[in-house]
Amino acid sequence: MKQNTPVFPQNFLWGAAIAANQAEGAWNVAGKGPSVADTIAHKPNMDVKDYSGHMALTDENIRDALNGLNDQKYPKRRGIDFYHRYKEDLALFAEMGTKVLRVSIAWSRIFPQGEEQQPNEAGLQFYEDLFSEMRKHNIEPLVTLSHYEMPLQLSEKYNGWVHRNVVDAFVRYCNACFHRYKDLVRFWLTFNEIDSIHRHPFTTAGIREEKCAPGQAQQDIYQGLHHQFIASALVTRDCHAIIPGSQVGCMLTKLTTYSRTCHPDDVQATLKKNLENYFYADVQVNGAYPPLILRDLELRGIHIEMQPGDLDILRNHTVDFVSFSYYMSLTESTQPDAERIPGNTVLGVKNPYLPASEWGWQIDPVGLKISLLELYDRYQKPLFIVENGLGAKDEVVDGKVHDSYRIDYFRSHFAQMLAAIHEGVELMGFTSWGTIDIISAGTSQMSKRYGFIYVDQDDNGNGSLARLRKDSFWWYQKVIATNGSDLS
Ligand code: BG6
Repeated sequence: MKQNTPVFPQNFLWGAAIAANQAEGAWNVAGKGPSVADTIAHKPNMDVKDYSGHMALTDENIRDALNGLNDQKYPKRRGIDFYHRYKEDLALFAEMGTKVLRVSIAWSRIFPQGEEQQPNEAGLQFYEDLFSEMRKHNIEPLVTLSHYEMPLQLSEKYNGWVHRNVVDAFVRYCNACFHRYKDLVRFWLTFNEIDSIHRHPFTTAGIREEKCAPGQAQQDIYQGLHHQFIASALVTRDCHAIIPGSQVGCMLTKLTTYSRTCHPDDVQATLKKNLENYFYADVQVNGAYPPLILRDLELRGIHIEMQPGDLDILRNHTVDFVSFSYYMSLTESTQPDAERIPGNTVLGVKNPYLPASEWGWQIDPVGLKISLLELYDRYQKPLFIVENGLGAKDEVVDGKVHDSYRIDYFRSHFAQMLAAIHEGVELMGFTSWGTIDIISAGTSQMSKRYGFIYVDQDDNGNGSLARLRKDSFWWYQKVIATNGSDLS
């Protein structure tokens, strides 16, 4: 009987997640250099359901950003002022029962231009204070080393990750972090959503298509990706050597895709999408490029420049666990007239069985279970859900936010996690995305809120920045306190 009651594992890591560029603000203090995120303007009139084009920047955009110094226009420069308010925020996370907090390190706080020989002490100290404060609250740090915030100078000088020198710069930066935080941080992620280099190459890898030779953009993006794979493997090696017992994960956008019909053409198109989505984790877990991907690149005339020893580096330094974000599923069809709807920086075919968020992302809790089963079956490595949540508009009424829609979203997803665990999936933990409201990565809006904690700020940066517990705060607190046995 006992065996048949689904339960979360005893040591399950319930937690929260944010990223430096969306939360910290303080973009130019204590020696921090500008990052790619600091150049992304909020466009009040953009179509928030189709914003992919807005994530590619031109020379003119960069010039404006650097000359204008207009924080109002660039929301990621102000974030939610986590940089100055982290103690208050950590106390709230602790009150909620948070066991693990995923944060990222802003690379340009540590190496402001990316290639200095010595790290910036003030930047190192900030994160030491942050991680120490987490430890005081018994919150385990889970740290992403690259989350859409590379030093802008590396993008300008090298067209980002296209150039091999960026590998060395990244390894130096990560080593500085490993040495400094070796007693504070055990869990590390190398690149957030490494696959997103194809969807928004500038924010992910500092690559601007304008700077690529005509017709070479795809070639350059794959080269940049190869450099990220190499860098990820090298720093996995270094992390293991410098911090005994540490664990390093890869991080993938799980874009689980269903076939719209059982027509073999649709099924084939869907298979291609899913293979493409797995490719990134395949390299980081199995330590080699999958043969079908290599052949596909060859057929497309894309040639990845490899240095002697690269294949050994990939093979010898694979990750310890597989982490991923999951917000929604997609559907694929070969029918040209199939209605397309938005998702996380992608468009997919509309699935008639699923509701969607206000931003058009299709809500699919069962898709999370399918994703867990697929990933575990494929890799047989521990899994970690490091992003999941509902972006929604919240309303404050009499000092309260009644976000039952958010609670419903999480309840249904937790039930599916539990079912997957029951069926044998090894799941280390779950960190909800944007647990405190932050600036949206895709649209730079503040009004797209994911949090259990409300932050008083609007899209133009007006507001007191006061923090407020939403109804979902209390609900998540209960979920954690009961280790997920009470989802009511
Ligand atoms: C993930 C990113 O893709 O999606 C996060 O890793 C991002 O940085 C999250 O915030 C949600 O996307 P958005 O555009 O709603 O903020």
